[in-house]
Amino acid sequence: MTAPIVPILPETIALAAEILSEGGLVAIPTETVYGLAADAANPEAIARLYEAKGRPRFNPLIAHVSSWEMAEREAAFSPLARTCAEAFWPGPLTLVLPAREDGRVVDLARAGLGTLALRWPKQRAATALIEVFGRPLVAPSANRSGHISPTRAEHVAEDLGERISLILDGGPCDVGMESSILGFEDDEPVLLRPGGLPTEMIADRLGKRVRAYGGHARINAPGQLKSHYAPKARLRLNAAAPEDDEGFLAFGSFVPGDLSLSTRGDLVEAAANLFEMLRSLDTRFERIAVSPIPGTGLGEAINDRLERAAYRE
Ligand code: TXA
Ligand code: MG
Repeated sequence: MTAPIVPILPETIALAAEILSEGGLVAIPTETVYGLAADAANPEAIARLYEAKGRPRFNPLIAHVSSWEMAEREAAFSPLARTCAEAFWPGPLTLVLPAREDGRVVDLARAGLGTLALRWPKQRAATALIEVFGRPLVAPSANRSGHISPTRAEHVAEDLGERISLILDGGPCDVGMESSILGFEDDEPVLLRPGGLPTEMIADRLGKRVRAYGGHARINAPGQLKSHYAPKARLRLNAAAPEDDEGFLAFGSFVPGDLSLSTRGDLVEAAANLFEMLRSLDTRFERIAVSPIPGTGLGEAINDRLERAAYRE
């Protein structure tokens, strides 16, 4: 049986909370991408989640919270981390912080790391559900491991519908790109994954340079596999124009049959369209050419996802 797609209502939020408290899996909208939620305190639920996603077990999960109290019960905030959270939460930013010994998020969710990834999402349906549930929910993007992240309820149904209990439909995601992940090393900010919050905004707010994660040894960022977000089609990046048999993902003007991430060259709009347009071209073409995308603002995250989607072992 495939999971029903239901609108956000007090009754469906209550149903979702009940399924989660029994160890079940529910797909939820967030402003970034749809997440596959499970009870962060229930190891069996998390094992089920890894199985449903077909995710390598060493990849830890983000715990989603809906209040400062809930966040501080799980992890220790340095003053810098606190400043950052206060500036951008609720929103598309995940902070990797030292996990508290007495936190409720279980070891399996952290893949045994001493740190915990925490996020307070902005989407009302997500925070309403966490509030009703009363404790953190882990939620990786609601796609099978290696597939493109879902930005609509229907994408979740296609990829995971047979493996989960319920899909809450919050419409298309506003940001359309996973959260930015920020860690700290000697209290200096390190970007572990570019995402829905432009890195320049973090640097501006903190008055500090945000170092890119360069694979150096001290911070562990296990999720950064080179191949990720893999469409079936082969991608050719920084293409001026498509070849005969290629689909074209443009940035700026385009011709009928192709798609444009943003005809007016807006990176926010492009981020919101990226995964959906990749999906759509992937069903029609074996090769996809992609226009050059500027690397500023959300362009950093867009280029990161495109490079991963283009990567072949
Ligand atoms: O926008 C998002 O972040 C979405 C929505 C649903 O919230 N979630 C999401 O989760 O993208 P996921 O599981 O697809 O990606 C989480 C990333 C992984 O690459 C993982 O390795 C990293 O976060 N991560 C989790 N815990 C970590 C930790 N303690 N240290 C370093 N990286 C961590
Ligand atoms: Mg993911």
